[in-house]
Amino acid sequence: MEQILQQIETFTKEIENYSISGTQNLEEYRIRFLGTKGIVKNLFGEMRNVPPENKKDFGFVLNQFKQLAEARYEALKQSLSGNESSTVDDIDLSLPGNPVEFGSRHPISLVRNRIINIFQRLGFSIADGPEIDDDWHNFTALNLPENHPARDMQDTFYINQNPDWLLRTHTSNVQIREMQKGKLPIRIICPGRVYRNETISARAHCFFHQVEGLYIDENVSFADLKQTLYFFAQEMYGKNVKLRFRPSYFPFTEPSAELDVSCFICGGSGCRICKQTGWVEILGCGMVHPKVLENCGIDPEKYTGYAFGMGIERPAMLLYQINDLRLFSENDVRFLKQFTSAV
Ligand code: PHE
Repeated sequence: MEQILQQIETFTKEIENYSISGTQNLEEYRIRFLGTKGIVKNLFGEMRNVPPENKKDFGFVLNQFKQLAEARYEALKQSLSGNESSTVDDIDLSLPGNPVEFGSRHPISLVRNRIINIFQRLGFSIADGPEIDDDWHNFTALNLPENHPARDMQDTFYINQNPDWLLRTHTSNVQIREMQKGKLPIRIICPGRVYRNETISARAHCFFHQVEGLYIDENVSFADLKQTLYFFAQEMYGKNVKLRFRPSYFPFTEPSAELDVSCFICGGSGCRICKQTGWVEILGCGMVHPKVLENCGIDPEKYTGYAFGMGIERPAMLLYQINDLRLFSENDVRFLKQFTSAV
């Protein structure tokens, strides 16, 4: 045993100091230490002569030695290949490179960007805000006090740790935050993700995307709202689009309306998309309720404003003829790579 351990020590030194100058020496090293009749093999052969109670310890030392010999071999090989193939002659610079794969934009981003672009041309700027917000910014400030029945219109996810926090059900929380800043006039759009507690299916999801708009100044009227939305609809759905405002109800606007556009698939004559009605509903809107202005410290006697809000998924589904909402969030590359250019 003593003798063998002594040998291992000498070999270890030899391995550590081994230097090579070419493939020839590398092969010599391999044969000497790692070959079928090499030193490592021989040492393992000595195992037979080791008494059983020492086999474990001896095996351990041997294995370490073997690993050292192998690691040194790899290192020597590396240093050699590094030296030899980095000469310019070995590299064929005319070979084509690996092609860079281009990604594509998500259909929701495409439609969102198009909506944003239209309103930016009208002087609206983009405002951003938190997706987790408190009850006041999402509901109370918007004239939806606690126990207001209209809260049921939007099934809400509350945060367990603090029931005052929730996942915003619309991006109107951003509008409240902008109004609170007190800088007037305000002309903003708020694109973003919103959450509602819906069972996931082809037609509903627990999150989706919205663009909401807010304009507050002196003498803003419903006529301004109509003209702005008319411009938007023409830019978005084509010059020949017709508009239909239907009276509706939102607690934060008065009067409130929903806007239909003549079906941009069939042009209004009736098809599967518009369920033969000739009309497609695209957004909710109205004049900002005086209570909402008051809640944010804006004088409703001096200022008026309009607001509107639309989902992005539905127009995206109609424009691209996508029939299942779930496709938007599954990240299936076969789906995503179909959307390479703007709508
Ligand atoms: N916040 C409303 C919703 O998400 C949309 C809306 C915004 C309606 C502004 C009217 C005015 O349902």
